[in-house]
Amino acid sequence: METQTASQSQTQTQSENAKDRFIRKTRELFARENDLDKRWTALRPILAELLADPEMIEASKSWPDCVPANGRAENLLFYEDKDFGFAINGLIKGAARHGAPARIHDHAHIYTLYGVIDGREKVIRYDRLDDRSKPDYAQIKEAANVLCGAGDIDLVKPYEIHTEVTVGERTVAVIIRSQKGGDFNQVFRKPWPTPNSL
Ligand SMILES: [Fe+2]
Repeated sequence: METQTASQSQTQTQSENAKDRFIRKTRELFARENDLDKRWTALRPILAELLADPEMIEASKSWPDCVPANGRAENLLFYEDKDFGFAINGLIKGAARHGAPARIHDHAHIYTLYGVIDGREKVIRYDRLDDRSKPDYAQIKEAANVLCGAGDIDLVKPYEIHTEVTVGERTVAVIIRSQKGGDFNQVFRKPWPTPNSL
């Protein structure tokens, strides 16, 4: 009986595609790791495996460009987990996005793994300098500016301020969020750092 179960499970594993394998491994990780920082750090290599999958890379070449709506680009939604709440999104920035002003923002309370599957773009990170005591006010300073390409993964923890800037290439990212994107992205619309900048 035990052998049969193992064999069935092996057959299932062999027939998995990269997305199914990613979902299975992520669910296993989320079930055993409750420390959120550890959980999201441990998810990096699982996403790296997905980004390296040849079928996924090939498929990503024909994903449609994401169209900005209400100031944000509509993400593709590949999956939302009913039990753990995490979501798999795609974000494709085509020619229409090149040279568009980049929004400096954070993702509010959610964790995000941003994985580049094709093309290159710059990820700029900011340190927050004020004490967060004033609502609708923040002072920031550029802390890192990195050119990311296929296979690179950026872990964005809650309230980390950043932006992604196109460099004239079509870029495709697979984004794992701790919950589906929606109304909670916080966008800083004016140049930074300036007092009363929101
Ligand atoms: Fe972001």
